Amino acid sequence: MHNDYRITWKHLLTLLLAVGGSTLLITRAPAHDQANFPMPGGKTYVDECGSCHTAYAPGMLPARSWRKLMAELADHFGEDASLADPRRMEITQALELLASDGSQATVRMRRINAAIPANAAPQRISETGYFKFIHDEVRPSIWKRKQIGTLANCIACHPRANDGRYGEREIRIPQN
Ligand code: HEC
Ligand code: HEC
Repeated sequence: MHNDYRITWKHLLTLLLAVGGSTLLITRAPAHDQANFPMPGGKTYVDECGSCHTAYAPGMLPARSWRKLMAELADHFGEDASLADPRRMEITQALELLASDGSQATVRMRRINAAIPANAAPQRISETGYFKFIHDEVRPSIWKRKQIGTLANCIACHPRANDGRYGEREIRIPQN
């Protein structure tokens, strides 16, 4: 009874571990981490998946997300982005290989992956915990600028996004 509202050392420790644990999952990268993501080789990926928007870095989502997305291209965010095989298969494999849960994932990719629940297959990078965390200082009014428009328009502010480069020194925010 007398224990009901008392925070015991065990509670406190559990709390500290929970808080500490979750910040470990998504913390800012060290300065030497250039925020470079591996991209599929050749031109196929940028040609096919970079024509309507940024050719997103595969390492931003786990393989299960890409598999689902690549299986539903006929109804892709309201657009028909269908691709015929073998091209579709080729891109799917490249995405899976370089995904956030791939065997060659960088430290940053692992961190992105750790913030995505294991039972979820998010289809939007812009809705992942890491994306929100890393962009929390970008004011809402900035996203609405004409040359940006949507959170998914990475290349508007990260001009080298199609090369998988997101480093802070290369960020250019359009002024209107
Ligand atoms: C015909 C145009 C078109 C093509 C081709 C296309 N997409 Fe998209 N895609 C869209 C649209 C439209 C959206 C929604 C963009 C928005 O909300 O700003 C989108 C959104 C996405 C998103 C979510 C972005 C986010 O984080 O919010 C991913 C991931 C994506 N596409 C991957 C791909 C891949 C991989 C390919 C190549 C197989 C591809 N797309 C080809 C039109 C296209
Ligand atoms: C409005 C411009 C804008 C758009 C659009 C944008 N970003 Fe960013 N991004 C930023 C800014 C500003 C930062 C630096 C944030 C900070 O350090 O406070 C950043 C940081 C990052 C970083 C970390 C860079 C580093 O050096 O650690 C990554 C990775 C990133 N963005 C990915 C993306 C992806 C992926 C998209 C698209 C789905 C995107 N961004 C869209 C402005 C943008």
